[in-house]
Amino acid sequence: MRQIVAIFCTTVFLIAAVSGADRVSLGVARFTPADELIFPADTDRWIVLGANIGGDYSDAEFNPKNPGMIGVVQMEPNAYNYLLEQGEYADGTMLLLSFYQAQEKPQPELRGFVQGNLSAREIHVIDRARYRDKRGFYLFADGREPSAMLPAGNECVQCHNEHGDFDSTFTQFYPTIRHVVSQEPE
Ligand code: HEC
Repeated sequence: MRQIVAIFCTTVFLIAAVSGADRVSLGVARFTPADELIFPADTDRWIVLGANIGGDYSDAEFNPKNPGMIGVVQMEPNAYNYLLEQGEYADGTMLLLSFYQAQEKPQPELRGFVQGNLSAREIHVIDRARYRDKRGFYLFADGREPSAMLPAGNECVQCHNEHGDFDSTFTQFYPTIRHVVSQEPE
């Protein structure tokens, strides 16, 4: 009998361990005691997923002479590796969108715009265990002060849920990974 109980207990333990392992948590995001997200120190090493021009949530019509901000999207490398291997986001995945002034090239013979000064940054953290909305959105100015999560149900979540192709992210605009998560043949 004792043996049977021992086997039963071991089985229950194993099932719990496996279902716990089901949801990988990267544990890379750091928070203050007040639950504010600390801006990660190594974002210069994050993987670039894509870039946009004039995507800075303005209601004005797009004007090619004054195109608005240049947005650059990056992903934390552990999260990126997990996505490539598993085809889904691990808990603790962080995505960064940085807005830069669009600066027209000063030499008229070199056409186009380049990234000027950094203007604002936004981080999207995906974590099913941590957030009611499964995700938290944080705004950072150009400084590095920790940032409080925008309240649950905010407009960021709404637009991302409605229009983002993959788990409320805009992978349809990210050439680095869209083939990884797309169901369609390339
Ligand atoms: C009206 C729709 C809309 C709203 C509202 C919105 N976003 Fe986004 N967001 C986008 C689009 C579109 C992209 C893709 C970037 C691009 O344009 O290349 C994006 C991308 C992002 C990314 C890059 C990672 C990802 O999830 O794809 C972050 C981070 C982000 N947004 C943060 C925010 C934050 C913070 C807010 C709220 C303050 C917000 N967004 C509100 C449309 C929206």
